[in-house]
Amino acid sequence: MTAPVVTAGPVLGIETSCDETAAAVLDPSGRVLAQALWSQVAEHARFGGVVPELAARAHLARLPGMVLSVLAEAGARLAAVAATTGPGLIGGLIVGANLAKGLALARNLPFYAINHLEAHALAARLPWLADPSPAFPYLTLLVSGGHCLLVETQGPGAHRVLGRTLDDAPGEAFDKVAKMLDLGWPGGPALERLAAEGDPRAVPLPRAMRGRLGCNFSFSGLKTAVATRLAARGGRLSRREQADVAASFQAAVAEQLADRARTALRMVPACETLVVSGGVAANAAVRVALATVAAQEGRRMVAPPPGLCTDNAVMVAWAAIERARAGDPGQDLFVPPRPRWELTEPSPARAASPAERG
Ligand code: KG4
Ligand code: ZN
Repeated sequence: MTAPVVTAGPVLGIETSCDETAAAVLDPSGRVLAQALWSQVAEHARFGGVVPELAARAHLARLPGMVLSVLAEAGARLAAVAATTGPGLIGGLIVGANLAKGLALARNLPFYAINHLEAHALAARLPWLADPSPAFPYLTLLVSGGHCLLVETQGPGAHRVLGRTLDDAPGEAFDKVAKMLDLGWPGGPALERLAAEGDPRAVPLPRAMRGRLGCNFSFSGLKTAVATRLAARGGRLSRREQADVAASFQAAVAEQLADRARTALRMVPACETLVVSGGVAANAAVRVALATVAAQEGRRMVAPPPGLCTDNAVMVAWAAIERARAGDPGQDLFVPPRPRWELTEPSPARAASPAERG
């Protein structure tokens, strides 16, 4: 393997693991030279969730033009190309990874196969995001539509999982409750807006896992409690009552996240920072609850701005820069996209080439 060259120039990042088509070019210090993001929400909304085949086709339609335009805007010669290669929806991953590999091959550049979860976890270290940037190790709470993890982030490629959800991810719970309240899809942002009009103490809802040992999560009981509550009212709620349900649900999620984060912080005394990332970290009530816990435990909370909490390509390019700085020369072009890829599994350093496989 050749020595890492990525720090010699800009890096292109590509994100296509779910329903955001995104590309960004960062200089090696982490400055954003160009970025573009297209949310496919309108394509999927009438189905009430992401349709994988539609997502893959939409990535295919949009990504090539988007990459050309960010490259033109950045105007500098690339030093490396990175794409999310898992975990995620396989069709989109193939589109993003293949475009990145083609570009790497054509321009003879290193290719970085990025784990989407690691990209979320490292985004808080973008140098302009917090002063000082979170130093390793830190505790990461990753809360999105598909994931809920508490992780000790020790460095690129070095993560220790302390807890995870036993059922739904919090974003999934937000989306399902929003659907029950007829708020459309995706539900998180709409539910947060409605919650602003309600009273978070109005509706008693369960606080799953509170005070339990360990740092696992559970959201399905909460979701069912909301469903039962709504069914008992025959679905006839005034706007004010709906807002109370939304606010009470949001408070219950925020409290559970805060309670689990407190337990985890006590398990990792060396971690000075609590990093919160993923789509649900865009929620203001969640951010306030976690900042409060961090302060009570004598730590600092760092969360990317909402636009970098949800899926984006800036975090993908940045993850490649972090990996290169840590000595990773990149992956060869035979590394396949992976729908499932645990954060603790090693990076796909090299897959056997067809010749090696014989
Ligand atoms: O990280 P992300 O963009 O995609 C995944 O990797 O899953 O997260 C999307 C999830 C969705 O479930 C969405 O409803 C939720 O994050 N979300 C929010 C908010 N913004 C996005 N949940 C609560 N409040 C928000 N403001
Ligand atoms: Zn994500």
